[in-house]
Amino acid sequence: MPTAVCLRAELPAGATKKVFLGDKQIGLFNVRGTIYAIGNICTHAYAELHDGYVDDDDCTVDCPLHGARFDLKTGAHFTLPAMADVSRYTVSMDDTHIYLDSYEAE
Ligand code: FES
Repeated sequence: MPTAVCLRAELPAGATKKVFLGDKQIGLFNVRGTIYAIGNICTHAYAELHDGYVDDDDCTVDCPLHGARFDLKTGAHFTLPAMADVSRYTVSMDDTHIYLDSYEAE
């Protein structure tokens, strides 16, 4: 069942935000009005991806610590030093809230 994680007003276009779903830390990214949700902890070491550089054209985020690149649509890692993908979550919205499914998307 989807869980409300923040208000839509908290995540305008171009913004990122860290939210929690139980004990899972998830990064939300608003890329030109589309919301993406991926695991927020880099798979290389400890860094929070919502603090990274977002490329709107490629829909990717670069880890703020060592620069590994992740796909915001799938969670796939594109570059070293990350060696594994992050999770991806299904996003839904109503007029006021952003919701996440509690399980990882396939
Ligand atoms: S912690 Fe992300 S690339 Fe090293």
